[in-house]
Order: sequence, then C-alpha cells, then structure tokens
Amino acid sequence: MIQFLLNDTPIEVQECSPSFTILDWLRTKKGKVGTKEGCATGDCGACTILVGEEKINKDGHAHWHYKAMNSCLLLLGNAHGKHIMTVEGVTPALYPTLNDLHPVQRALVECHGSQCGFCTPGIIMSLLALYINNATYPGKKAVIHALGGNLCRCTGYSPILLAAEKAYSFDRTNEPYSQLATQFKASLKASAVDDVPFLKNGPRTFFLPQSAKQLVDLKALYPHAHLVAGGTDFAIELSQNLLLPDIIISLSQAKELTQMSDNNGMLHIGAAVPYSQFVDTFYAYYPESKELFERLGSSQVRNSGTLGGSLGNASPIGDPAPLLIALNASMELLSAHGVRTIKVADYFVDYKKTVLKNDEVISTIIIPKRAKSLKLACHKISKRFEDDISTVCLVLAIEHSQNIITAARCAMGGMAAIPKSATHIEQQLISQPLNVSSFIDAATAIEHDFAPMSDVRASATYRITVSKNLLQRIGIEFCHKNTDLNSNLNKNNNIAITRISHASL
Ligand SMILES: Cc1cc2nc3c(=O)[nH]c(=O)nc-3n(C[C@H](O)[C@H](O)[C@H](O)COP(=O)(O)OP(=O)(O)OC[C@H]3O[C@@H](n4cnc5c(N)ncnc54)[C@H](O)[C@@H]3O)c2cc1C
Ligand code: FES
Ligand code: FES
Repeated sequence: MIQFLLNDTPIEVQECSPSFTILDWLRTKKGKVGTKEGCATGDCGACTILVGEEKINKDGHAHWHYKAMNSCLLLLGNAHGKHIMTVEGVTPALYPTLNDLHPVQRALVECHGSQCGFCTPGIIMSLLALYINNATYPGKKAVIHALGGNLCRCTGYSPILLAAEKAYSFDRTNEPYSQLATQFKASLKASAVDDVPFLKNGPRTFFLPQSAKQLVDLKALYPHAHLVAGGTDFAIELSQNLLLPDIIISLSQAKELTQMSDNNGMLHIGAAVPYSQFVDTFYAYYPESKELFERLGSSQVRNSGTLGGSLGNASPIGDPAPLLIALNASMELLSAHGVRTIKVADYFVDYKKTVLKNDEVISTIIIPKRAKSLKLACHKISKRFEDDISTVCLVLAIEHSQNIITAARCAMGGMAAIPKSATHIEQQLISQPLNVSSFIDAATAIEHDFAPMSDVRASATYRITVSKNLLQRIGIEFCHKNTDLNSNLNKNNNIAITRISHASL
C-alpha cells in the first residue's frame, strides 16, 4: 500500500496499475480534471502539480518543501509519503484567510494571463511554487526560469510575467500546506505497516524500497524488473512506447541513494537525488557547470530527474555524462553481492548499452576534488534555450602549469552513439602552450574522434563545425580573461554559436 496526502485528503492506494502516472490517476480515478494532459511527455507543463516533501534542517527541524513537477512523468507509487497539491486545492476551503482567489490566480486574471485556459492550471501551479518558495518577488529572471517548462500558445507570455510580479502586490496569504502535511505525516508514521510500500494490479507490482538493502534484494529477486527514479525518461517509455512492465522498482526513496556528502573535497551524490536538490552544492565546486544544469529540461524536470536516471537511460545526448567524464567522475554500482566502482568514462559501451549488470543499480556518483589549476568550460548547443535537449554538448577540463597544458579531458554528447571522450583532441592539447592557437589546432582533430550523424536536430557538418567553433571559443575563454568573445572569434566561422557560458571568464 502507498499513502499520501492529496490536497487536504489522506489517500491510501494498493490496487492500481504500477505504471499509472499521477496524472492518469488524478484524471481517471479521482475525477480531478483540473490538471490537464497536453503532451504527456513533460514538454508543455499543463499537468504541473506541487509535490511537498518533508526535509530536515541542519538544526534537526522538519519542514515541508514544495516543488513543481510534471504529473505526466511522476509514477503514482512515487507519491508515497508526499503531499500532492493540484489546482483544485488552491481554494478558500483550504485557505481560511482567502475570500476568493489565491493572489497568484487573482493576478493572472487581472493581467489577462489566461485566454483559452488550457495551460492555466499548470501555470498557476508553477507560479504557486515560486510564490511559496520566495517571500518577496524574486525578479523576472527567476520567473522565466520557473516557467521554462510551461507552454502557453495564447498570451504571448507578457501578461503571465506581469502576473507573477503582481501576485506579490496583494496581501500575502498564510500557506496552509505545511501544517496539513505535518498532521498527515504524523498519522502516516502511526499507521505504517508495510516494510516496502507497493502497488499491485494482478501480477504486476510497483515496489518502493526504503533502503539500499531492500532495493538490491528486490533487484536480485527480479533481475528483469524495470527501475525508475524521477521517471522523466521512464514515463515516456510508458506513454509513448506503450511499455507495460510487470515489475517496477523505484529507487526514489532508497535512503542511501537520496543522500549527498563531501568526503575530503570529493562530492558523493546519491544516484536518486534530484537535480534541483544537488546543483547548488555542485556549483560551489564547479560553478561552470551551471550552463548545463540550468538548461537541463525545465524546472519541473530538474525537480524530478536524477543523475542515476540520466546514466541509467544512457542516452547519447544526456547532458550530465560529458560533464562527469570530463571531471573524471566515478560511479558506484551496487548489487546484493557488494559494490564496484568504475569511471563514468568506462560505463558506456554502445548505443544504450552499458556495463551495468541486471542485478545492479547505480548508487552513487563521485565527483573528484577540484584540481588547483583546473579550467572548465561547459557548452550546450540546442535549438531552444529553455527545455530542449542538446544538439551538441561539449565539456573541456584542462590543468596547466607554467603556461603549459598538463592535462586535458574533453567529452562530448550528440556526436556519437554514446557520450564519449575526444581522445585525439586531448592528446593534441597536452604539452601545448596555454594560448588560443593550441585550441584552434586541437579542434582540427575532431574528425578523428567523431563521425556524427545527420538527424532532425542538425547535420553532421553542423555538428563538426560547431564543435570546432566551441573549442576555439573555449580557448579564448581560458586565455583572454577580459576579452570580448565575439570580437575574438574567427570571422571565417560560418556557424553561429547560439549560447555560451561566461562562467569561466
Ligand atoms: C521535457 C524533458 C526535457 C528533458 N531535457 C533534458 C535535457 O535538457 N538534458 C538531459 O540530459 N536530459 C533531459 N531530459 C531527460 C531526463 O530528464 C534525464 O535523463 C534525467 O536525468 C532522467 O532521470 P530520472 O531520474 O527521471 O530517470 P528515470 O526516468 O527514472 O530513469 C531513466 C532510466 O534509467 C534507469 N535508472 C534510473 N535510475 C537508475 C539507477 N540508479 N541505476 C540504474 N538504472 C537507473 C531507469 O530504469 C530508466 O531506464 C529531459 C526529459 C524531459 C521529459
Ligand atoms: S502533459 Fe505536457 S508536460 Fe505533462
Ligand atoms: S491561455 Fe491558451 S494556451 Fe495558455
């Protein structure tokens, strides 16, 4: 059985298809159709809900944290122990202090931010997450970031952006959510009877192990079970490829996989820690990685998606892999027989094939301590800035001494069947002087490293040319601290670089 709080109502579910998403369940089993289904692939945001989770502060106090997520990507079983807020819950019944509309709703009405209205519930929920988590207006950039996963085809967005600010001009309401959730959690603890929460539908089962031991024991028992963490890739297999797994094991609440620690400057990130939970710590070590993580999907996707899921999915265009390879990161693979540690660079074998065995799970990703002379550049080229996957992703890390490059690790996504190192480029860079020419020269080796495909995103020629341009750009970033990048770019380059990171300038 799983238990969660839906708006103000405690819910217990046992009999349910293990592959049901929260969206499926809300609309077909609960008649809560305020949450809309647009794309069912995480791209439109119409299905956005809030998911509240209990967090323990450093001082040991519990509080509830609410995040916007796509209910079309979240499996119902993963809701266990959480507070699920839908648009139906944003009512005076829940808010004793509210006479009519919530400030976010009132602002959207007054600014004409809703026209056909199909996107509106999702936009309300994304703005509500922003409102709950920011006591004062956080600025337009934060609003755009929060709405990066919400499409609206009618309003042209300006009224919605205005509404986000206007909501703060009304009296602030006391949010009732945390109090409701705390009461629910107390009742949940009292009535918990299942060792491993589960959902069942005939022989089909969803398991939600609470510890690494329960997880690997289940994986040993069901080696062909499908694993799920945030579900941002897996749910698409269900909705688009009509995958109908018999056994699903979720890693999302296995305690050891949801923790982070610093071990002498080495960052250990549990495979099931969502992006939005670890990125601030990651930026403290490697601020240059913002370019990739801030543009990975939308805020809804980053609130669910995990590093374990990205590596587990083994997509050639997953953004974390080039970064992890360039940083020389390792990963722990756990099974009932123990743990083995491998380099992320050795993990990928062929398209969607990896060295992960059937009884293993990825448990931890280990990011090495930052070398003193390290310079890092991360670049993502995509057709759209927000919520788009990479056409090409290039990450280069170098170390240097006395103006000579002493080490180079370059990894790319979108250039081959797997994310992989550019070994020829690396060899060309090592022992060269730290100047722009070294990077331009090394870029000529790109064709020895990659023979990319042409596809709907870009031609092979584009991919090669943009990669060469990026290497030149990185040379300028690394070598000319205060120079205008655009005036230094080779004027003969015939492809524009659509987006650059200034983090390493
Ligand atoms: C709208 C949208 C936009 C996206 N944009 C981007 C983007 O810009 N860049 C990008 O890189 N990705 C993007 N993604 C893909 C996805 O969000 C990421 O790959 C994410 O990291 C997957 O994590 P997850 O926890 O949701 O994985 P899940 O969907 O839960 O799992 C993915 C796969 O990995 C396996 N798996 C999960 N955890 C483990 C584990 N610990 N051990 C072994 N196997 C495991 C599962 O069995 C499954 O096959 C996007 C997805 C969506 C829907
Ligand atoms: S229905 Fe479009 S993001 Fe969920
Ligand atoms: S109001 Fe119609 S799609 Fe947004």
